[in-house]
Amino acid sequence: MKRTLFITVLLFVVLACSFTQLPTAPTPFPTSTVPPSPTVTPAPPLRSLAATRGFWIGSAVSYEYLRADSTYRDLVAREFNLLTTENDLKFGPIHPELERYDFEAGDALMEFAQANDMAVRGHTLVWDWQNPSWLMEGNYSRDELINILREHIYTVVGRYRGQISAWDVVNEALDPQGNLRDTIWLRGIGPDYIALAFQWTHEADPDAKLFYNDQAAEGMNAKSDGVYELVKGLRDSGIPIDGVGLQMHVDLNAVPPPGEVAANMARLGELGLEVAITEMDVRLGPEITPETLQRQAEIYRELLSVCLRAEKCNTLVVWGATDAYSWLPELTGMPDAGVLFDLHYQPKPALEALVKTLMLTE
Ligand code: XIL
Repeated sequence: MKRTLFITVLLFVVLACSFTQLPTAPTPFPTSTVPPSPTVTPAPPLRSLAATRGFWIGSAVSYEYLRADSTYRDLVAREFNLLTTENDLKFGPIHPELERYDFEAGDALMEFAQANDMAVRGHTLVWDWQNPSWLMEGNYSRDELINILREHIYTVVGRYRGQISAWDVVNEALDPQGNLRDTIWLRGIGPDYIALAFQWTHEADPDAKLFYNDQAAEGMNAKSDGVYELVKGLRDSGIPIDGVGLQMHVDLNAVPPPGEVAANMARLGELGLEVAITEMDVRLGPEITPETLQRQAEIYRELLSVCLRAEKCNTLVVWGATDAYSWLPELTGMPDAGVLFDLHYQPKPALEALVKTLMLTE
């Protein structure tokens, strides 16, 4: 009894002392005695959530930034299970002179992807932008251009054969009305250039999936009708094409209605084609506020949901990873903040929206 009383009094004294002492302790605790702050479990990386449902979540990557920035490298490797070559495999960078290729950046991207167990989408073989001046100014005859393009495709696709799971073979061949655009390839070779390019790519890597890729053809409109007709024509003539890439560069105030995107994906799927969201970013313009970031997150969520629900869509690629290296500010002259991580590599609500959407089981 006495002992219990003694212990109670002692406890009381100790507690009283510690309470009275606390406010008077002027010096901060040495760091080593500071208790660890409560651990916040980080959200699971996108790629592990994607992988569990057989989905590919990708980022466009340029070797220029990957080489220089280890934080960026870690971010890309942690979050994405797919990499699209943003610029390094385009005609100009990879084939700077008629007789010379430059594979340094492309090879380094493949190495990075392999080291981090990421699939690669090759972008792009035939486009009318980012072409070398020798090609644009060469005044080549039809036969010469055919030889140039065939040799280019065999060389580039052949080099990365087995390392690239899907190619954007032809990029942006149509105008807003859904007609073939006036490009060096249409002028020099004629409308057949598209079928030829798919054929040659298939010959160079029979296992790669081959995509036609375009922008502003996500919903139902004249352009997406044109894409539909184009790929149906290729399919009907036995040309090896596996899918259509819907780029999805959208603006907060001009988003293709999700219902239309779903309908477009469904009609392409009925042709036996896959669809992929290949270049998504959501421009915020000049105003980056909690509200605009929230709306951006909602758009990412809606369009990922459309893809997850579509029978033939298993890929969403964001056109970048951090706003620090996004192409948008240079394009529009505004902050835009179109991708999932901000200028300081901090996750935005859009990331959380994708994480939550991938976690949902439907
Ligand atoms: C962009 C790159 O992101 C920029 O770095 C480059 O300066 C221009 O091209 N549609 C496409 C992509 O198919 O190749 C473009 O990429 C963005 C629009």
